[in-house]
Amino acid sequence: MSKIIKKKQKIIVRSVRRRDLKDLMYNYVLVQKEIRTNPYIGIPLSDKKPTLKSERKWLAKLIKEVKEGKSIASVAEVDGRVVGMCDITPSGGSPEARHMANLGILVRKGYRSMGIGTMLIESSLEKARKKYKAVKLDVFGFNKGAQKLYKRFGFKTYGVLPSAFIRGKRLKIDKIMMYLEFN
Ligand SMILES: CC(C)(COP(=O)(O)OP(=O)(O)OC[C@H]1O[C@@H](n2cnc3c(N)ncnc32)[C@H](O)[C@@H]1OP(=O)(O)O)[C@@H](O)C(=O)NCCC(=O)NCCS
Repeated sequence: MSKIIKKKQKIIVRSVRRRDLKDLMYNYVLVQKEIRTNPYIGIPLSDKKPTLKSERKWLAKLIKEVKEGKSIASVAEVDGRVVGMCDITPSGGSPEARHMANLGILVRKGYRSMGIGTMLIESSLEKARKKYKAVKLDVFGFNKGAQKLYKRFGFKTYGVLPSAFIRGKRLKIDKIMMYLEFN
């Protein structure tokens, strides 16, 4: 039985706050470490450790966008710890693309496959429906679990970019592009 279910911990999904910074940084650093033993981690990663300064700036910008109603950033809190986040941010560039937004999601190792990703996506899409006409995302070709999850929410594949990433010296990773159009 999972750690969460065993301890009957409550999962709270809420909007991101400034005080989540350290947990969010920790989640990212953990995944950077995870990749050393498991190259099949489903997100493109920087090889540099995030700094408090850069992450504070990133989070302040995101919270500002959330307050202005431009972006959505939901976190999952378990036992006072933020263990996952899903953000939906508008596509940059031309104003003619502003009806579209991009979705990103990460759940901390040890808390996956417990329904947290589903809760985060569900809550984020509910808000996104009121703001955008469509949401898109990129997912690695080998990340079948995540693709299955997105399909369950109605996302459809619209393209594949072969070998979009090369991890380490030789792991070629295809980029699968998916979108969900709201009615
Ligand atoms: C992908 C991710 C966000 C999913 O979050 P999660 O909390 O594990 O998802 P859930 O527990 O809600 O899983 C729901 C469904 O997704 C699918 N799924 C998710 N992760 C899976 C995995 N590793 N293997 C197989 N199926 C998986 C399953 O269909 C699962 O349903 P099931 O439990 O009935 O089989 C999470 O595993 C994660 O952060 N992974 C590492 C980073 C990543 O891949 N991010 C996605 C970038 S596109």
